[in-house]
Formats: sequence, structure tokens, C-alpha cells
Amino acid sequence: MRGEKVGILVISYGSRAAAMIDALSRSEEYAVRFYIADKQRNPFNVKHAAKHVVIPDLNIIKICDFVEANKNEIDFGICGPEQPIIDGVRDVIESRTGVAMICPTKRYAIEGSKVSQRVLLDECCADANPIFKVFPRADYASVSEVKNAVWQFLDEIGDEVAVKPDTPAAGKGVGVWGDHFTSREQLFEHFLSVFESSDVLIEEKVEGEESSFQAFCDGKRLVPLPDTRDYKRAFDSDLGQNTGGMGSYKAKQDWLPFIDKKDREEEEKLAQKIFSRLRGNGSNEELRGVPLYVAFMHTDEGAKILEINSRPGDPEILNILPVLKNDFVDVCFRMVEGNLSNVECMNKATVVTYAVPMDYSGYREIYSGDRRVNLSGAQALQKGYGDNLRVYPGSMELREDGYTYALGSRTVCAVGIGDSIEAARDVSLDGIRNIDGALWNRWEIGAEHHIEQSVRRMKELRAKER
Ligand code: AMP
Ligand code: GLY
Repeated sequence: MRGEKVGILVISYGSRAAAMIDALSRSEEYAVRFYIADKQRNPFNVKHAAKHVVIPDLNIIKICDFVEANKNEIDFGICGPEQPIIDGVRDVIESRTGVAMICPTKRYAIEGSKVSQRVLLDECCADANPIFKVFPRADYASVSEVKNAVWQFLDEIGDEVAVKPDTPAAGKGVGVWGDHFTSREQLFEHFLSVFESSDVLIEEKVEGEESSFQAFCDGKRLVPLPDTRDYKRAFDSDLGQNTGGMGSYKAKQDWLPFIDKKDREEEEKLAQKIFSRLRGNGSNEELRGVPLYVAFMHTDEGAKILEINSRPGDPEILNILPVLKNDFVDVCFRMVEGNLSNVECMNKATVVTYAVPMDYSGYREIYSGDRRVNLSGAQALQKGYGDNLRVYPGSMELREDGYTYALGSRTVCAVGIGDSIEAARDVSLDGIRNIDGALWNRWEIGAEHHIEQSVRRMKELRAKER
């Protein structure tokens, strides 16, 4: 029997919010009424909402107006997407309405500046920080002046670097030697395209295998979640451009197949150091939510930090929420109240595969066909799989005609849950194959050959180390 009634605001962008709503609505302790501020009429959200409002740009003042109008029914709010967090959605909602928000404040939205992240890491875990240099726009009077400075830095550290905008550009804007440019002239061309609108960071290119580390936080403690592996590139064999993330996997244990328990402990140690630095002594409730989602690169010199986000990853949190043992509403209350203890996951592997539109990331240069997507086949399949298949619509819209349509970004994902990554992948792909629509996906998320390749690369790197 569900008990206490609770009202929850969810700020929604993509499948990540659907996964949050699903986890919250499975609460055995609470009966949840959802107040959803959505980028569009996401069919999953519309179905679950007590009140639903569309705010296409997720403007924080408009979100706050929605909260204000419903504040007596809302116990707390949770925000997944980065932009409202960076814009200060928590600060505005908490000060105007008194509704507690689960996400960091503007001050601790550290993904808002890659430069500040590098400076912070130099202060608390310099060994995990690639060598870097900042090129502030204000410091250079001409193109030739900044070019000289870039050349000088490359003379010092070599040409194998990554070039990044200070401010987030949704994975775009980051250029890596060997992938996006192979000569200094090309590198500088990329540099200038970023420098037009942002300070630029050039950092040493680090080689290895990537893992994503996330943790919940109540301001006092950082409670780590299992590692996941994101597939950033479009197309199998990593042949395409960086995307928001085409899918991800989680193993049964807290670490990934290509690293071991010690590597995981190293990740936790580094995250705790960053957290301690941000928190200061005692407690800092401004860090509530997922203040540290750290992208690690495991290299021959140990773990290096590629970037830090201050929100749950999409798709990475979708590997975790469906297998949370704790009641997620209770976890949220604990984050708000500052008494979060351990969070446990089932001993299961999970695989998330995203299906995306034909014109996503250049799969087709042009697609002018029908964008209708019918999830009923995949949803019918869910019944057979019980809780082991979840289908979460993302960039999809329920229209007046009663049909659902793919918009521009990642359309829908299928989360498979199983006793091995392979079993979870089979379920996820079965879900994907039963979605009716002009969409494409990567087939190798969590595939054995891909994981073996990561294991082999890691072994080779470690052999180099000795
Ligand atoms: P970011 O937005 O900083 O996570 O960068 C996007 C992607 O670019 C990462 O997932 C990596 O694959 C790659 N990347 C970023 N920084 C580096 C680096 N210093 N060395 C090598 N690859 C990098
Ligand atoms: N998986 C990439 C991101 O959430 O930024």
C-alpha cells in the first residue's frame, strides 16, 4: 500500500527525466503527484503528470512561475538538465518559493566553466589534471598574438592536445588531435572558431579508456554510484562525431570490466578530494544533488579527469535509476534533509541504447520523411520482460493528432537489465528493434567485442607503464 502523498517538481529534458519519473513513481512508501516543467510534450511525462507545462527554452523564470503557482502542492523539485542549473534555477526557486531543489546552486554548477574545473583540480588533485593552459579572450589584442602564444604552448607540451571552449557547448567545440585536426594550422583553425565566442583551454591529450563516475550528495556526504561507460561517438566503431551519448553500460559490480577494484577506489578517492575542497568543513547544502559526475580517462599514469559535470549524466544515470534498491523518493528526501546514507543498487548489469533520428549526427545528410514514432511494440514487449526492459522517450513529442513524433535530438532509449552485460544488451536491443519509426542506433553498446577491445587497450597501456 502506498502511503504518504508527495508532490514533486521535475525539470525535464530528454529520457533522463522519464527515468527519474519512473524511479520516483515506483516508490512503495509514497504516492507521487508530478509537476513537470518540460521542454516539449514528452509522452511519458504527459502520462505521469498531475500538472504539465511546456517551456521550450527551460527558462528559469518561467519554470519558477510554474512552481510559484503550485508551491503548496510541491514538496521538492529535481533538475536533470545542465542549462537551468548553470542559470541558477535552484537559487531562484528556493528564494522565491521556498521549494527545496535537488541540484547544485549556480555557484556550484561547476560544469559552467571548464577553466574553473582545471584550476580547482590543480588545487586538490593535480596528478589527475592534464597539463593545461588558458587563453582568455581579454588577454590578446590580435590573432597573430594569440597564435604565437598557442604555438609557444605547443612547443612546450607537444601537438597532441585537446582544444576546448571554457563554457559548455554540448560536447561540440571540443577538438582532439588526431580526431579533429592533424596539423597545427588545422588545430589553430579550430581554436579560432571557439575563441570567437569563448575563452579557450588547451590541454594535454590523454590516452586510455573512459569511465563515468556519479554520486548523490546531501551537502554533507558524497554517496558514490556504480561506474558506467558512455559511448559518446555516433556510429559503430566510434566512427562518428561526439554526440550527447549513444548509450552506456554498467557491469554487475561497481567498476567496469576494463578496470579493477583498485581503480574504482582511486576514482572514489579523487571524487572525495574534490568534494571536500568544495564542501569545506562540515556541510554545504549548496552541493545537493549530483554535484560531481566525473569523466575519467584511465591512462598509463593512473586516472585523469576529462571533465566534471554538476548533474546526472544522460545516458549514464539511466543505467542506475532502474536498479536502485532504495526508494528513490526517500533518497530525494534524504538529500533535502541532509541525512543521506548509503545508496544501494541491485547486483545487475544494465545497457542503455538510444535510437535517434535519421538526420542526427550526419547519419543522413537530409531526411524529409515521416517522423512519426510508435512505441507500442516496445511497450508491449516490456510486459514479457517484466521489470527488465524500460523504454524512456526523450526528444519525442505527443501532438494534437494523438501520435508521437521524433524531434531533433536523441529520440528514445531502451534500458535492458540482466545478470550480465551481454544479457542486458540483448534485452535493450530487443526493445530498440521493436520501436516503429525512422530511427537509427549503435548496435555495439556493451557488445563483447567492444568491451574486449577496452580490456586489451588497458592491458597494453599498463604494460607500457612497467
Ligand atoms: P569533454 O566535453 O571535455 O568531456 O570532451 C568530450 C570528449 O573529448 C571526451 O569524452 C573525450 O573523448 C575527449 N577528450 C576531452 N578531453 C580530452 C583530453 N584531454 N584528452 C583526450 N581526449 C579528450
Ligand atoms: N553522457 C554525456 C553527458 O551527460 O554529458
